Amino acid sequence: MNTTTPQAGTFLNIDNLSASYGGAWVLQDVSLTMNEGEFLAIIGANTAGKSTLLKAISGLMPKTKGEVTFLGNDLLKTPAHIVPTLGIAHVPEGRHVFTEMTVEENLRTGAFTREKTANIPDALARIYHLFPRLKERRTQLAGTLSGGEQQMVAVGRGMMLDPRLLILDEPSLGLAPIVVEEMHERFHEIHKSGVSVLLVEQNVSLALESAERAYVMSSGQIEFEGDAKVLATDDRIRRAYLGI
Ligand SMILES: Nc1ncnc2c1ncn2[C@@H]1O[C@H](COP(=O)(O)OP(=O)(O)OP(=O)(O)O)[C@@H](O)[C@H]1O
Ligand SMILES: [Mg+2]
Repeated sequence: MNTTTPQAGTFLNIDNLSASYGGAWVLQDVSLTMNEGEFLAIIGANTAGKSTLLKAISGLMPKTKGEVTFLGNDLLKTPAHIVPTLGIAHVPEGRHVFTEMTVEENLRTGAFTREKTANIPDALARIYHLFPRLKERRTQLAGTLSGGEQQMVAVGRGMMLDPRLLILDEPSLGLAPIVVEEMHERFHEIHKSGVSVLLVEQNVSLALESAERAYVMSSGQIEFEGDAKVLATDDRIRRAYLGI
């Protein structure tokens, strides 16, 4: 249905991936490719398996079969604590900031896998430039921040890795529409700076506006895939996800 599917194999390549938490297979034969520099979205109803797919990429699924490679590295054989060192930052669903630590302490934890020689002050400066609100609140305990500000901390923590691939799982969940829009503007800035973005987003119209291409998941499988602008006008998407 589209002509934008990239050549398999170069940046992120997922081939016939199945994953399980111990019982039944929750993901079944999922195949997906992503080129470096893309802004890709994964959409689908609750329990479709979107977070499970992201967890499989990050080495967080206990049982997998199939193939996941990133820049030639076999991610299914890479322990979760090594994945960030390959240039993948995963901002999980639910933010998970350290509430008893300050904004800046939270951000610094994002750099823990980086080389001792990494320039942490430069990384912090870049994040404060992206999110000036975090700079204003850098000594404030993260638990006292608004939901939107906590999401900025979670994204900033991921960006401390200086990643090549930024994975965002439902970054707008529970946030006010104006904050959601602001977050997406920041995601575009991050993307424009050369970071590839893989976004799972419950707000389907926003996801298709932000992303260049999208995969639609249903019951642990990819239902269809295509150019985001084309999918936004597809009757199946409009009926199932946009209520039109
Ligand atoms: N820790 C877990 N243990 C067992 N089953 C799980 C676990 N986490 C998720 N599942 C199951 O795996 C399936 C896919 O869940 P997943 O969280 O990947 O969906 P999702 O598409 O991210 O949904 P949502 O939009 O609600 O975030 C669901 O049936 C869910 O119940
Ligand atoms: Mg999820």
